[in-house]
Amino acid sequence: MDITAATSRSHSVYRKFQSLFGETPLLVGSPGRINLIGEHTDYNNGWVLPAAIDKCIIGAIGKRDDDVVHLHAIDQDQTHVATLDALERSPLLWPNYILGTVQQLVKRQYPVQGFNFVFSGDIPQGAGLSSSAALECGATFALNELFAFGIPKLDIALIAQAAENEFVGVKCGLMDQFASVFGREGQLIKLDCADFSHEYIPFANADVELVLFDTQVKHSLASSAYNERREQCEYGVSLIQKHHPEVRSLRDATRWHLNRYVKPVDRVVYDRCRYVLAEFQRVHDACNALKGGDLEAFGKQLFASHNGLHRLYDVSCPELEILVEAARNNPAVLGARMMGGGFGGCTINLVRAVEVQGVIHTVTKVYREKTGMDAEVYRATISAGTRVLTIAD
Ligand code: GLA
Repeated sequence: MDITAATSRSHSVYRKFQSLFGETPLLVGSPGRINLIGEHTDYNNGWVLPAAIDKCIIGAIGKRDDDVVHLHAIDQDQTHVATLDALERSPLLWPNYILGTVQQLVKRQYPVQGFNFVFSGDIPQGAGLSSSAALECGATFALNELFAFGIPKLDIALIAQAAENEFVGVKCGLMDQFASVFGREGQLIKLDCADFSHEYIPFANADVELVLFDTQVKHSLASSAYNERREQCEYGVSLIQKHHPEVRSLRDATRWHLNRYVKPVDRVVYDRCRYVLAEFQRVHDACNALKGGDLEAFGKQLFASHNGLHRLYDVSCPELEILVEAARNNPAVLGARMMGGGFGGCTINLVRAVEVQGVIHTVTKVYREKTGMDAEVYRATISAGTRVLTIAD
């Protein structure tokens, strides 16, 4: 989203709030994310390399005198009203991302009172850019500001993740919410999901651009397969644990453990686990390449990550394969891979800046020829995390 579009969108959210409730709201912005490398590693206590992007949710929030939670989604033109003592799941789905965070705040004994919340977003849904995490983080952040709870940033991300795990029902790791809250302009975040320590790595190189190709599909097994992958990793750990109780996650496991205790029992689980261990190493190698300015080596790690996701972790799909293959065949693409949970969504591509237009042309052409569909294209700009907006923003 460019600055003018963002400004006009925050104005329209602000105006909508005023027209509905006749009051002046507090405005927040909460971004979606990309992930350069480190896929399906977060819930295995490993490392990830995400960044917040310029596509975001803009929310307007204000207090009420009762215990009503009044929510309005501008883009869907839908309203959902609940009371704090009866936070039930809504069939509309989008309210659940907000109600889930309210439930988590109540559970942690923050004195939440009634509030009004109006929002609009430009993060494409189902594209793997974490529009749901952006909404969860935006709602938690907004409530924290509104009621001055003083919740630290890490807890905002953890509360948003717990909402997704418990209210929405997807057992995701912390990557998306962490990236949304901790994003910084022009910086990637190397996050260690075992202890949440993190390091910012600048992604500022005029020679390359990050281009996303959106398959425009989201296969229905995405969330069930996601939870299943997580269970398979946990099962792998449990097989090792019988002999080595000190191994509490794949973070503590070695290839030797996998060969000895997992491979003889379950070949599929073995493949899942060895993908994860290899991906841990790729995150380090990719970060070192980036710090050393070696973009070709960085790109190779992206291709290698994709191979593992496709062949061992089995979370790709035909549409993603077409996009990655088209990128692989183009010398102007230094690296490409599927991004996020899988079974649809986007590929992320590291492209030589001077050749971006040509790459977009060829990849979308191949995709159209092979699928009959148009791939949506996004040029990712790495931006700041969840924040208070002024109406001038
Ligand atoms: C989804 C989840 C994240 C992460 C990725 C895969 O985006 O929400 O926690 O597990 O998939 O890396």
